[in-house]
Amino acid sequence: MASIHLPRTIRIGGGVLAELPAVLAQNGLSRPLIVTDGWIESSGLLARVQDLLAKAGIAARAFTGVVPDPTVASVEAGCAFLAEGDHDCVIGLGGGSPIDSAKMIAVKGTRRIADLKAPHQEDAPALPIVAIPTTAGTGSEATRFTVITDADTDEKMLCAGLAYLPSFALCDFELTLTKPARLTADTGIDSLVHAVEAYVSKQANPFADSMALNAMRLIWPNLPLACQDPGNRAAREALMLGALQGGIAFSNSSVALVHGMSRPIGAHFHVSHGLSNAMLMPVVTQWSAPAALPRYADCARAMGVADAAESDQSAVGRLIEALHQINADLAVPSPAAYGIDKARWDELLPLMAEQALASGSPGNNPRVPGLEEIVGLYLAAWAH
Ligand SMILES: [Fe+2]
Repeated sequence: MASIHLPRTIRIGGGVLAELPAVLAQNGLSRPLIVTDGWIESSGLLARVQDLLAKAGIAARAFTGVVPDPTVASVEAGCAFLAEGDHDCVIGLGGGSPIDSAKMIAVKGTRRIADLKAPHQEDAPALPIVAIPTTAGTGSEATRFTVITDADTDEKMLCAGLAYLPSFALCDFELTLTKPARLTADTGIDSLVHAVEAYVSKQANPFADSMALNAMRLIWPNLPLACQDPGNRAAREALMLGALQGGIAFSNSSVALVHGMSRPIGAHFHVSHGLSNAMLMPVVTQWSAPAALPRYADCARAMGVADAAESDQSAVGRLIEALHQINADLAVPSPAAYGIDKARWDELLPLMAEQALASGSPGNNPRVPGLEEIVGLYLAAWAH
């Protein structure tokens, strides 16, 4: 048995952004708040969206105060901005940070975000959320999760529930054509990790599996192409669909140990989400694989790094090799090479391991670690 949750409408394709007014009209919405960041504003995309809406008779206010790894303070500022207007929906425009911020701004009301973190489930409908991703990575446009950082405790709080699932997503790969190589690599690896973790998760189910496997098929060959040639339209289109399907996969299955361990690295050392996932992926896969060899072997075959005739053991060996290789090809540094202070790393490991466990994600891993094992995996990833 599985319970599947999806946006009400997903519009996909080059140029589909132009359909935003039609999506709003179709659903009786006319007073959107746009939530975005300074980069999207300075790129001219925000003005483009506001013009598009203005032509349809909609004057959309915009909150541009989203910060990378959104904090409680930045989201509270967005909530105050929302309250000053009269809005019937919230549009998240940008990468994972604006979309995650839009979700919490639409849902929070007068409550404390700390009271909404997992294991709390927030299912009651709030303002409808429209997601317009400009990176192919987080899959946030189709997930029932948002992650907000508590800057006082350096904790990335995972918040879950149907309230955070966007009602509408517009996935226009043309918005990703100018994305720099580093961001393409980091967000692309994040989406690959979503697909693999959803597939090996204890919550896996046939619906999520189909999304996860197709995401792997799309992301693996196209990620290097888009990094080498940012204007490669076919690769960008594949990555946008792969990121969406990876998001649908983990939203209807789960992420697992890589994400559980990745959030504390991001929170304490300000490493981008995709990069901290990439740092952990080979080591965690190697440790986890014996508990679900056939599932990991399926991943290797979907990615095309092993062929159908190979044994599971051999396919998984190739998968681990390939994960090391893609990190080298995409210049993913180890935590040591990233410049993290070793003494601080060692000092924080027990807390990071505790925070990883508390998020619940490691409990969905095919091999479930204890605190000491998580510390051991952080140590193993240090210079890898
Ligand atoms: Fe992620």
